[in-house]
Amino acid sequence: MNHAPVVILDFGSQTTQLIARRVRELGVYCEIHPYHRPAAEVSALAPRALILSGGPASVTDADAPRPDPAMLELDLPILGICYGCQLLTQSLGGKVAASPLREFGRAALGPRAPDSRLFSRFSDSPVWMSHGDHVELTPPGFTVTAKTSDGLVAAIEDPSRRRFGVQFHPEVHHTPGGKDILAAFLFDVAGLVADWTPAHFIAETLARIRAQVGDDGHVICGLSGGVDSAVAAALVNAAIGKRLHCIFVDSGLLRKDEAVEVERTFGAELAFSLTTVDARERFLGALAGTADPELKRKTIGRVFIDVFEEAARAFKDAAFLCQGTLYPDVIESVSVRGPSATIKTHHNVGGLPERMHLKLIEPLRELFKDEVRAVGRELGLPERVLMREPFPGPGLAIRILGPVSPERIHTLQEADAIVRAELARLPNKHEIWQSFAVLLPVRSVGVMGDARTYEEVCAVRAVTSVDGMTADVFPIPHEALGRIATRIVNEVRGINRVVYDITSKPPGTIEWE
Ligand code: XMP
Repeated sequence: MNHAPVVILDFGSQTTQLIARRVRELGVYCEIHPYHRPAAEVSALAPRALILSGGPASVTDADAPRPDPAMLELDLPILGICYGCQLLTQSLGGKVAASPLREFGRAALGPRAPDSRLFSRFSDSPVWMSHGDHVELTPPGFTVTAKTSDGLVAAIEDPSRRRFGVQFHPEVHHTPGGKDILAAFLFDVAGLVADWTPAHFIAETLARIRAQVGDDGHVICGLSGGVDSAVAAALVNAAIGKRLHCIFVDSGLLRKDEAVEVERTFGAELAFSLTTVDARERFLGALAGTADPELKRKTIGRVFIDVFEEAARAFKDAAFLCQGTLYPDVIESVSVRGPSATIKTHHNVGGLPERMHLKLIEPLRELFKDEVRAVGRELGLPERVLMREPFPGPGLAIRILGPVSPERIHTLQEADAIVRAELARLPNKHEIWQSFAVLLPVRSVGVMGDARTYEEVCAVRAVTSVDGMTADVFPIPHEALGRIATRIVNEVRGINRVVYDITSKPPGTIEWE
């Protein structure tokens, strides 16, 4: 990438990725690096500014994480956030000590120094604090530019050396004026321009893909119908057109009508070169009689790789494999990894690039999910693809508890379609991260008309989440729940009872298996 980055040094804060997202929302390219990266390596990136993240440690501990001392000497604007602020303070000759008052949560700032560079765009607002240590003595050359209403140091700066520190977290949602702080640092102090836009990214990426693939190279790409593979493929398609060969494996484990939808969208509408492999029988055969969740996952993963590899071999000229790897998958960070690092793995076509001697093309390696959507939008992908809910690689198999059979797949698809259709009518449907039906291998007695029934139970699940790592229950209004239950029991054969899952994650997981 041609963009010289703002470098964010990660000291283990849970909000490091949020800093990066806020900076990018301001139109500035940034990268996260672990705090122990040597200063020479960071220098080699030609960074435009440095941000030191927060972190759980205390700088007063002997073994606290510390950057290469040369890092703080770099001739760059530096902003320290929370732990980063304390680190700057201590390293530059000030003093940090345990706070007489631990501040966690919302805090009010007292008056700001009128000539503060960092607060020049900031209007009065609460800020979010989370610290046990505080700046007791500012380093030489620094002034205190704000205190909290409790009288503790909230911000310091030495504009002549371009060193700034804030004790609060400008990156979190609970600091509404946080973007003004970051904007003042990036634009006014560091003199950066907002040039990280989807259009720029696309122009640079297309050029890069063309250079990598050459004039006659061919690329294969597994299309799942999800956002990441769709946008990755759309970029490569825009770069080299028909020399991209998309493969869609129909496992029979997708939601109702989704296989048809993928073919219609990518084949008919977007005119990608698309091969659909109907592998429904193969997946079903391999899964027959399997009820164990992990065995289901392994089986599906194995069959997927076999099927994909066989299909890929048909493209003898292909020397490249396109994958929708995102930035959270590749950040070498000391804080909590993104969702893809922790979820039960599946769909990566593990080992295939080596076995088939394919070189990887990963056009989304630098992007967060919201940026991927923005790029997809700019490329003209339909909104229904971009706003698609995350869907697990093993598909409905892990929402059908117990053995998977064609009948049970059909039953779940029908019930699930009703859940989706009813939730789509809610005005706040955009708050939902995932929503679906789960088929339970539990039979209960019911009565329909004059007849006694003895059929399976279906659970309804809807959650809100930011990244899938944690999730809250999305409160489905009672009326909608009532409609869902009535419709499922009336319209779907094989289900005579509907229950509602109200478990958050943790302790539950989003999926049932
Ligand atoms: P859990 O159930 O672990 O899911 O709370 C977290 C997120 O990951 C998705 N998920 C998967 N995605 N392969 C995937 O590609 C999988 O095996 C898998 N298992 C869970 C899940 O849908 C949720 O978004």
